[in-house]
Amino acid sequence: MTSASEANPQTSKLTFWHEGAECCDVEWEAAYERFETPDEEVTKFSRRFRRLGVDRNACDLDIVDLFCGRGSGLLALERMGFQRLEGVDLSPSLLKRYRGSAKLFVGDCRSLRFESETKDVVIVQGGLHHLSDLPDDLDAVLSEARRVLKPGGYFVMVEPWLTPFLRIVHGACRVGLFRRYWPKLDALACMIDREKETYFQWLSKPRVVESLLIQYFECERRLTSFGKLMFVGRKA
Ligand SMILES: C[S@@+](CC[C@H](N)C(=O)[O-])C[C@H]1O[C@@H](n2cnc3c(N)ncnc32)[C@H](O)[C@@H]1O
Repeated sequence: MTSASEANPQTSKLTFWHEGAECCDVEWEAAYERFETPDEEVTKFSRRFRRLGVDRNACDLDIVDLFCGRGSGLLALERMGFQRLEGVDLSPSLLKRYRGSAKLFVGDCRSLRFESETKDVVIVQGGLHHLSDLPDDLDAVLSEARRVLKPGGYFVMVEPWLTPFLRIVHGACRVGLFRRYWPKLDALACMIDREKETYFQWLSKPRVVESLLIQYFECERRLTSFGKLMFVGRKA
């Protein structure tokens, strides 16, 4: 199952699932680093998880963060007391930035190497809009998330959504003066530019996304807020 592993001095080892499939977009990752510090991101994720009720669960749950990037979501969960944490991402360079105790896997979230029905919660934040083929790639990720969840387990998703707020942000990204004086906006605009094909494809297919979500999970919570769709679904 594990093809290779690499020591990460500060944290757990990286386990490579799909040899040669790992990806990195150096420019996108540089903009991501500029957008928010890991501490800011952990604070944002902690607030978001509390809003979605994640913190009300028992701390011995098996939780997987898909598309976990540099692992700020995992750190937020760790600070809430969760200990059985795993993260999956295609980018070894982002995973190596993680400083925590979760197990990390370099792999493609369309094809998970976890046993079926072994996880209590699967989380995705900001990863699905990086998928290049809709609906097939989304179908693959949701089907895998459902497969690895125990019956009654939860799927938690937070992704960009074309709300009026997001339209305003897109407008601001087109104004050079704003970008010059607001580094965070400039970093966001750079990220969107690097991922524009998948990002705008994702935003243009809300019905496809929502129908797949409810095909795989019973909706427990759905809310849109500040350009995000937050969805909590249960595996029946
Ligand atoms: C916007 S980042 C989200 C990172 C993290 N969840 C967060 O919110 O900070 C998207 C991540 O998806 C990863 N990624 C893209 N396609 C992937 C795939 N098919 N399987 C696993 N990771 C993937 C990228 O490497 C990147 O780290």
